[in-house]
Amino acid sequence: MDRDASLDDLRRAVQECHACELFRDTTQAVFGEGPEDARMLVVGEQPGDVEDRRGHPFVGPSGKVLDRAFGAAGLDRDSIYLTNAVKHFKHRPAAPGKRRLHQTPDRTEIVACRPWLVAELARIRPAKVVVLGATAAKALLGPAFRVTRERGKALPWPASAEHPEDFEGDGVLVATIHPSAVLRADDREAAFAGLVEDLKAVRD
Ligand code: URA
Repeated sequence: MDRDASLDDLRRAVQECHACELFRDTTQAVFGEGPEDARMLVVGEQPGDVEDRRGHPFVGPSGKVLDRAFGAAGLDRDSIYLTNAVKHFKHRPAAPGKRRLHQTPDRTEIVACRPWLVAELARIRPAKVVVLGATAAKALLGPAFRVTRERGKALPWPASAEHPEDFEGDGVLVATIHPSAVLRADDREAAFAGLVEDLKAVRD
C-alpha cells in the first residue's frame, strides 16, 4: 500500500481489492467516512446489506442504533470517523427480494482487510478509538481479546494493539458491544444503556 496515498486515494483503491474472496458477491467495498481530523475513530465489523447497496458505513439498522447511542452519550456523529474492520459485506445468498443474511467474517478475511484499517488509522491518528464487537476487536487487539471481559475499560492505544508497531501516536481505546447486539438482545433497553455507558467512558 502506497504510504503517500490519501484517504480518497485509498477509498478508490479499495474498490479493486481482491485480497480475499468477499469482493465477488458484493455491490462495492465500503470504506470509512468522516473528518480527516477526527479525534475519535469508531470501528465496526463490516458493511451490512444496506451499506453494501448505498456505499456508506452504518446507514442501516445498526447505524440507527449507533446514532441514537451517540446522541445519548453526547457524541456528534459528524465529528467521528466511522469505519469497519472488513470492507466487503459477507453474507449468505438470499431469495429474490429478500435481505441478504450477514455472515461473520473469519480470521483470514479480517487479516486480509487489516491493511486498509491500519492505513485509515495512520492517516486519521485519532486520540480515541472505539471498537464495536468481536470482529473489530479481533482485527485490532488480536484473537484472544474478549469484549465481554474488557468492555468499557480505557485501554492504552496503541500499546494494547496486536501489532502496536503498526500504529503511531498514542491515545485510548475502548471496546464495547456491536449495535446489532442491542437489536438481538432479550432486554434491548439494558443492552442499549450498556452501549451508551461505554461510549460515555470514551467520551470522558
Ligand atoms: N454493521 C457494521 O459493523 N458496520 C456497518 O457499517 C453496518 C453494520
